[in-house]
Amino acid sequence: MKPPDIDRVISRVEDLPTLPRTVLRITELVNDPKSSARDLSRIITDDQVLAARLLKLVNSSFYGFPQRISTITGAIVLLGFDAIRNLLLTTSVYDLFSNRKKISLIRQEQFWDHSLACAVAAKVIGNHLRYDKVEELFVAGLLHDIGKIVEMIFLSREFKEINRLVNDKNILMITAEEKVLGYGHPQVGKLLAERWNLPPKLIHIILHHHQPSTAGRFAFEAAIVHLADILCRSLNIGYPGDNKMPDLDQPAWESLRIRPQAIELLLEAIYKEFDDISLFITHTP
Ligand SMILES: [Fe+2]
Ligand SMILES: [Fe+2]
Repeated sequence: MKPPDIDRVISRVEDLPTLPRTVLRITELVNDPKSSARDLSRIITDDQVLAARLLKLVNSSFYGFPQRISTITGAIVLLGFDAIRNLLLTTSVYDLFSNRKKISLIRQEQFWDHSLACAVAAKVIGNHLRYDKVEELFVAGLLHDIGKIVEMIFLSREFKEINRLVNDKNILMITAEEKVLGYGHPQVGKLLAERWNLPPKLIHIILHHHQPSTAGRFAFEAAIVHLADILCRSLNIGYPGDNKMPDLDQPAWESLRIRPQAIELLLEAIYKEFDDISLFITHTP
């Protein structure tokens, strides 16, 4: 049977999970320079699950604040808008894709670990380069391979064939996807990102993370996520769907101007931060 073309995947987009309304409203608010901590607090307080989750997170040992934080406004003042949006988006995306019956639990967890490690790595690299919006890089890292999840759920027959090819030939998942489907997870991920009304920067990074030099005005950010993907693969955190290391895109690497000696320090920082964050995000109710 012929594999479904990308138009058919688009037609199935209606069945794709939607981001919780609260998270979308928070994203809008964070992008609005006129919004205040009180506006954000009101939205979060309306959603009891998110409110409880946020208070649990800010009071966790990860942040190590000496005093107990009992109000949402207090949490916002301490952590800042972007960090709050980030935490809530991360836990919401985790919820959307976990416990899907079609995917084995181990697979889900390993894939989640790869995504979270890449998020942490993108942020660590961003900090190293003094990039001003590292929280955006975190979200981009978290979602870079989201197209693979869509394939697992909606193209399960083809996904099996893709996995067989990956294992038989020891190739990258994207190479196998292109053979079986005629397109890869970056294109599929882009569809989901558009459906979620995510900002253009994020859509571009998802679409170009394997060839960051083609990402136009967001080539620098795509290069960061591309390197993040490679660094967390070299740390062996989680499982991205194949065992082959993607080639480092040379122009992208040069555009970052990272000294090769700095890589060791970056790897150490990624490992440590991943350990800290995965503990509480993955085990939050
Ligand atoms: Fe990828
Ligand atoms: Fe990846």
